[in-house]
Amino acid sequence: MTRHVAHDLALAPTRDETAAQDFVSTLRAHVLNDMAASMKARYEARVAPRMAPGADGRAILAAMRHEPYFRFYSAVRVKAQEMVWASVRPTVERDAERLAARAAELSADRTRAEGTLRLDPELPIPRNVSALDVHLMPGNYHFDGGDGDLRAGALYENGLSVFSFGLMGESLDDIGCSIALWLKLRHPEFRPADILDLGCSVGHQTLPWKRAYPDARVTGLDVASPCLRYAHARAQALGLTAHFLQADATAVPLPDQSQDLVFSSMFLHELPVEDIRAVMREAWRLLRPGGLMLHYELPPNEALSAYDGFYLDWDSHFNAEPFYQGYRDLVPADEVARAGFDRARYFHAAIPSLGWYGEEAVRAAARASGTIGSDHVGRLADGVLWFVYGAWK
Ligand SMILES: C[S@@+](CC[C@H](N)C(=O)[O-])C[C@H]1O[C@@H](n2cnc3c(N)ncnc32)[C@H](O)[C@@H]1O
Repeated sequence: MTRHVAHDLALAPTRDETAAQDFVSTLRAHVLNDMAASMKARYEARVAPRMAPGADGRAILAAMRHEPYFRFYSAVRVKAQEMVWASVRPTVERDAERLAARAAELSADRTRAEGTLRLDPELPIPRNVSALDVHLMPGNYHFDGGDGDLRAGALYENGLSVFSFGLMGESLDDIGCSIALWLKLRHPEFRPADILDLGCSVGHQTLPWKRAYPDARVTGLDVASPCLRYAHARAQALGLTAHFLQADATAVPLPDQSQDLVFSSMFLHELPVEDIRAVMREAWRLLRPGGLMLHYELPPNEALSAYDGFYLDWDSHFNAEPFYQGYRDLVPADEVARAGFDRARYFHAAIPSLGWYGEEAVRAAARASGTIGSDHVGRLADGVLWFVYGAWK
């Protein structure tokens, strides 16, 4: 079920709009749990017996394209994705002026928190953002109508609530909360003073770092001004001091060795390979010795069965995520080493969702060696585990 946005930037949907959002959430859960399980069963019964030994995800897609159930699943999933945005957009548009006014009040209210917002109207928007509507979101992250426009931020946060059918937690921050808890437990000696979240959008995975390390200066960076305006007001609404900066993560306007933790969440797979490499080089430059680069991402193809690789790459073909598969074909340890990190200091882990499994499971994961071993890793479905990797400088 949808967890509707509950902070001070909450929209005012009509009852019909709320019902539509709940319906779409339920439909998404049905597609990603029940229909995905039926599709796998059909694959095993009908397609797997005729696959050549060693067939990869691409070969499975080529075979599955002809299967009626795969077509049915894909058609419903695409439609559900379009309905995610359609179910929240009328509310966003109707409420936009009130929301902008409320955001301006919150941003100026220093009694709540002392965050800042630095926009750069001259920043060129990279083509991976400007040239398409990523995951079919109309207008994408960056459409800016001027005059304090934050509709893209509102559309993204409210849409994500519908999209994730409760799996991302009350404040959509389960990824950040689970990972920050895991890091604190696994490395109690690590006390970052400066934390940077790349591709932060509305800052929902940025703020858990402020909660986990209250003394740190936490900065969220993104190219999209409407998301950043929203992120700033959202952080103020939640009473957490964070700083938001409009910049390109491939060329960050911050000094060398100014950060202790450079984090990203669901970001790298939206970049072309040359930009992923530039971002990692930036992380290396920005980190102080002893600092950590940490990415929450989809697990790489090399770590998954061919079927799971096929399953996760669906978005690359049908959800306007053109870089998804190319990203997942990379080998993270190679990329980390290419950026300048010592390969021996690379690690990865599958972290149980705090909301789904509870704190004890995260504690157990922090004690365990970093294996992936579960087909729940990286799948937005019941029982999700978050895949992270990184390296120490
Ligand atoms: C899928 S969202 C990730 C949002 C958030 N971190 C999360 O966990 O859900 C990807 C974000 O990356 C931003 N982005 C894309 N390319 C970028 C770049 N080169 N530099 C900075 N931000 C970028 C987009 O504007 C978007 O807000």
